[in-house]
Amino acid sequence: DCDTFKYYVDGEWRRSCSGHSVTINNPSTRKPLFKVQACTQEEVNRCIDSAKTAQKIWAKTPLWKRAEALHKVATILKEQKAPIADCLVKEVAKTSKDAVVEVVRSGDLVAYAAEEGIRILAEGKFLVSDPFPGNDRNKYCLSSKIPLGVVLAIPPFNYPVNLAVSKMAPALIAGNAVVLKPPTQGAVACLHMIHTFHLAGFPKGLISAVTGKGSDIGDYLTTHPGINCISFTGGCDTGIAISKKAGMIPLQMELGGKDSCIVLEDADLELAATNIIKGGFSYSGQRCTAVKVVLAMECIADALVCKINGKLCKLTVGMPEDDCDITPVISDTSANFIEGLVQDARCKGARFHQEWRREGNLIWPILIDFVRPDMRIAWEEPFGPILPVIRIKTVEEGIHHCNANNFALQGCVFTKSFDKAMMISDAMESGTIQINSAPGRGPDHFPFQGLRDSGVGSQGITNSINMMCKTKTTVMNFP
Ligand code: G3H
Repeated sequence: DCDTFKYYVDGEWRRSCSGHSVTINNPSTRKPLFKVQACTQEEVNRCIDSAKTAQKIWAKTPLWKRAEALHKVATILKEQKAPIADCLVKEVAKTSKDAVVEVVRSGDLVAYAAEEGIRILAEGKFLVSDPFPGNDRNKYCLSSKIPLGVVLAIPPFNYPVNLAVSKMAPALIAGNAVVLKPPTQGAVACLHMIHTFHLAGFPKGLISAVTGKGSDIGDYLTTHPGINCISFTGGCDTGIAISKKAGMIPLQMELGGKDSCIVLEDADLELAATNIIKGGFSYSGQRCTAVKVVLAMECIADALVCKINGKLCKLTVGMPEDDCDITPVISDTSANFIEGLVQDARCKGARFHQEWRREGNLIWPILIDFVRPDMRIAWEEPFGPILPVIRIKTVEEGIHHCNANNFALQGCVFTKSFDKAMMISDAMESGTIQINSAPGRGPDHFPFQGLRDSGVGSQGITNSINMMCKTKTTVMNFP
């Protein structure tokens, strides 16, 4: 009885000729909610062929017109925030409040990308030849940025709209076409978002959204010779698999994180605890930038844990429609994985400040104290509302723990000493270190990158536009 949604190609909404669909469950009810088309490889070919043709014309469309079209999308996205947010609430159990924030943030991102594109792409480079030894001034070199071609955008379930437009808007302003592969959970929110591009009058074929099972079309898409760039956000294993199979094309990947939060003896503990709660438990910990391990100096650990617990017990647990702080995690599989980490920590002697409680996919928040390096939770990413605390004797111990992890997305340090903060920021080998604040991607024009297994390349609006272009040079010779 679920509503079935069509996929988008050639400026039209179509049913797949496969006759099959993929079911999206509501994580809160664990019951089927929507269905999307299970597209075939032939349908993927059609999306990419159309994108190739449309891109050639789009690349020649004046930049100001491309920007104007994106501004229209930004306006329509904000006008359509209620129905899109409603999908996010149902499909990915994001609270109503946060779902609206995601859509509005996406509108702002699209508008900013349009403006930033105008700034970046207006600039070219002019060089003369005679500075280099042996040359006369008889060559003029002109360089500018041109699009890559067709960008494959693969966003994750936790920000299906925002992390889709964070790839699409930079790609489009730079003159690329986009093929979007929405995540299964969040696919319908993605399709609603795609409709705003349709309403804004984007050329037929330039943008498509192809839904389906990863096992049917995932590898086919990522290895397709018609794709000129992949921008992926999602699980580490999938990201590594894509990077091994993809051809010689630019890759942009944001994968997992195990963001460390180092709290020094001179920290403002109230500030640290507030940020640890916000950073560790917002969207039930399902953010790659969530605080995923607290590394607290022994001398302040009791006081810090006490403050965190005081705030943690005030978190409301329930359904996203009620704007509860903690809502069901995305799937049974995810909840089982989280439970496995908790059981491992319990068996190995960690101290629990709250009782383990789970109903379906709903998991009550827990602070797990006295975690040691032999416990899985010290290293693995739960993507759920459970937070380990490791008590450290020295700052070096904390830095070592942070750097010994395969993940290296963000991290943070709490201290009143600017010198110590800068020293620790330098020593923590992660993409971004926040001083006296929880990790976070935004504002969306800031650079955003993971080191080691946390990703490839750097994102943020400016970096994404630059990454989705190549340099084209013309040399004028005067013999
Ligand atoms: O989950 C990954 C996102 O890039 C995190 O974004 O820091 O704005 O929550 P956020």
